Amino acid sequence: MEPPVKGVNIAPGWKPDTWTGRETLQQPTYPDQAALHSVLDRLSTLPPLVTSWEILNLREQIADAQAGKRFVLQGGDCAESFNECSSPLITNRLKVLLQMSLVLVHGMEKPVVRIGRFAGQYAKPRSSDTETRGDVTLPSYRGDLVNSVEFTEEARIPNPQRLIEGHACSSLTMNFVRALVDGGFADLHHPEYWNLSWVEHSPLAEEFQRLADNIGQSVRFMETISGRKPGSVKRVDFFTSHEALHLHYEQALTRQVPRQWGWFNLSTHFPWIGMRTAALDGGHVEFFRGIRNPIGIKVGPGMTREWLADLLAVLNPEREAGRIVLIHRMGEQKIEEHLPKLISTVKDTGSPVLWVCDPMHGNTESTQSGVKTRRFRKIMNEVDLAFDIHASQGSRLGGVHLELTGEDVTECTGGARDLSDEDLGRAYKTMVDPRLNYEQSLELAMLIVRKHNQVTP
Ligand code: PEP
Ligand code: CO
Repeated sequence: MEPPVKGVNIAPGWKPDTWTGRETLQQPTYPDQAALHSVLDRLSTLPPLVTSWEILNLREQIADAQAGKRFVLQGGDCAESFNECSSPLITNRLKVLLQMSLVLVHGMEKPVVRIGRFAGQYAKPRSSDTETRGDVTLPSYRGDLVNSVEFTEEARIPNPQRLIEGHACSSLTMNFVRALVDGGFADLHHPEYWNLSWVEHSPLAEEFQRLADNIGQSVRFMETISGRKPGSVKRVDFFTSHEALHLHYEQALTRQVPRQWGWFNLSTHFPWIGMRTAALDGGHVEFFRGIRNPIGIKVGPGMTREWLADLLAVLNPEREAGRIVLIHRMGEQKIEEHLPKLISTVKDTGSPVLWVCDPMHGNTESTQSGVKTRRFRKIMNEVDLAFDIHASQGSRLGGVHLELTGEDVTECTGGARDLSDEDLGRAYKTMVDPRLNYEQSLELAMLIVRKHNQVTP
């Protein structure tokens, strides 16, 4: 393919606002449109959160992962909140992701692409527009970008000022993550910096410590034999991602940049389309069609062959490597029925994709007392099945997408400590979906390595 000429928009008929001509689901209704538009004008002049070269770098890394040369670890909160935009929470989440990635790198012997579900994961799709408690019905909470979680009329009114606050919290998070990563926090010589104080006595922490010591030695050995300056093997990359749900917000951060053609969504490196908003003729698909970022598409049990083939044709017409990540979230009960046909459909299209398993969203259930939870055994089982199904179809599972936190929460049951339904009451903090805690996350990473190495020749 000829490289597109600078300044040329490759998506015919596309502009950052053409999505407004399509039916667009899951958007808030703002009572004051004038206030919304004045906020959007302001937002569109504020600096972006990421750069085009970082986005293009991630695209290359995803292309490598499509070729089996890297594995993707994507994880973070279901929903970030403005109140939790704080130093310990950000650091702990980074620590867990770093530790997991090290387990994966060490066990799989390939580089890991680290993508946080953070610095912008502030808008949530909801199954109902309203929430009823007793005899009071109010608009649903749609994420901190839109309204507030408290169950009062005032709190639930969509407030456009929150878009500015969302941008600010995202950039505070980004700034801190960048500073930590650049400043030696992610230094491979000192994985002990990544330890979380409250898990010192966990058997998994001991296992991780042995592995970290091993890595520290290997890094020093590599520096010695390559003649590189001690300390030069340091940096790890971190990318950001969120569900690009609120299209006015995403549009305001979609820009053209000097010396590049086309448009970039500079609110995040890796935006994804949620399962509820992937209609072929809907606003989200229209918006995503014109941006140059690598993009994720969540695919659930309702996805059909035709729908998926059409999405790939619209979103990656030139069949470029590094552009599309399909994040399947079927549930352990349904993956065997639904995934194989989608794999064969993608093969037929000849379009390169990276397959990533989200074992969280198809395995949500309620306990007898009505608490939303997920069982570790089912999460693991879906990952196992995903590896097996891809391998048996001559395809490859190239990553995982997880909801997790570095905090000592009890939201998912099971795992090494075998948390029970009763334990959920102890530290249940999530505002939306239940997340894996630190130990469950690390255990999952270890199990993923074992499974990956079983199916990889
Ligand atoms: C999510 O990732 O939090 C989410 C809502 O996922 P899905 O669109 O797959 O349901
Ligand atoms: Co979720």
